[in-house]
Amino acid sequence: MKIPVGILGATGAVGQRFIQLLENHPWFEVAEVAASDRSAGKSYAEACTWRLAGAPPAATARLTVTTTDAPFRSRLLFSGLDSSVAGEVETALASKGHAVVSNSRNHRMDADVPLLIPEVNAGHLDALAGQRKRTGGGYIVTNPNCSVVGLAMALAPLSRAFAIEDVHVVTLQALSGAGYPGVPSMDVADNVVPYIGGGEEEKIEAEPRKILGAFKNAAFVPADFPIAASVHRVAVSDGHTMAIFVRFAKDVDPAAAAAALASFKGEPQELKLPFAPVKAIHVLEGNDRPQPRLDRDRENGMAVSVGRVRANGPRGLKLEALVHNTIRGAAGAAILNGELLKARGLLA
Ligand SMILES: NC(=O)c1ccc[n+]([C@@H]2O[C@H](COP(=O)([O-])OP(=O)(O)OC[C@H]3O[C@@H](n4cnc5c(N)ncnc54)[C@H](OP(=O)(O)O)[C@@H]3O)[C@@H](O)[C@H]2O)c1
Repeated sequence: MKIPVGILGATGAVGQRFIQLLENHPWFEVAEVAASDRSAGKSYAEACTWRLAGAPPAATARLTVTTTDAPFRSRLLFSGLDSSVAGEVETALASKGHAVVSNSRNHRMDADVPLLIPEVNAGHLDALAGQRKRTGGGYIVTNPNCSVVGLAMALAPLSRAFAIEDVHVVTLQALSGAGYPGVPSMDVADNVVPYIGGGEEEKIEAEPRKILGAFKNAAFVPADFPIAASVHRVAVSDGHTMAIFVRFAKDVDPAAAAAALASFKGEPQELKLPFAPVKAIHVLEGNDRPQPRLDRDRENGMAVSVGRVRANGPRGLKLEALVHNTIRGAAGAAILNGELLKARGLLA
């Protein structure tokens, strides 16, 4: 018997990825789909303009879309809701006893909500004990901003092996990160836009520090190094690229840093979770890699690619990282979080 799950915001860009990625999942089965009043009452096929390759799975296409205040029978709900509504809806559903695994930004920085990358900070699930006392049993777990998944995964092995003093990052972010219809074509064709709204830079500067920090004495203690981000929207369909500049307390040999990155693994690899990449980070040899078109789909879009790990003056390194923004950076990340919750007995 598979575990029934509900998808909130099932008709959106992230919601469609959930539906696509969960087809034939060994543990989870999409049993319920919810979206706005505009979609409620229609079949999923009718309500959703499918924008991924192929067609939605037949069993999901037949489901009737509900509103988000419907009574859900699935304990586990994956949320790809618009952030204008996600905050309140997710809080209400956690208070009704659901395990809400969210992509939206609303609860990421809450004092008792894990901002989870299972390879990096599975220990932050300890925060759920306090959260569940507050809600009466249900809880919210979030995954980070799409760029942050790539940045935090690249920084995690470096911060464990060497003391980081500060980080600068320049992002080149794909169009799919803006949902549909996203950035007007007249703005982005033949162009680079050096701004992304919705507090993108602030998220990239704050979220990795929570993820790479500790959970101690019932509180999150952020990592103590500052991060400065400069973001750009580029005419790439999927895959966020980042140029990362790290300053350390001492000189770091680029080969030692590359080795730390290549051997990085965590609980998903040890537990062999269904969505876990075999290698969380692929360190690429070529001087011109990673590239979105060539490298974003490594391990079904769940691995982060890193290349060009090189020296940058005293105590400095620079490197390039790439993450598939709607898979490892969104729906795939949330599914891996759901798998970790199941493996740890937190869905019982
Ligand atoms: N795109 C990415 O790469 C990415 C990555 C990471 C995180 N995220 C986050 O994930 C969330 C979804 O992003 P997206 O790109 O998938 O957005 P989207 O394509 O605009 O989809 C939004 C979804 O929310 C639903 N919705 C909107 N207003 C609602 C309401 N009042 N009540 C209930 N449902 C409502 C929509 O339903 P209808 O179809 O019925 O309107 C749709 O299913 C956002 O919070 C975003 O920041 C996105």
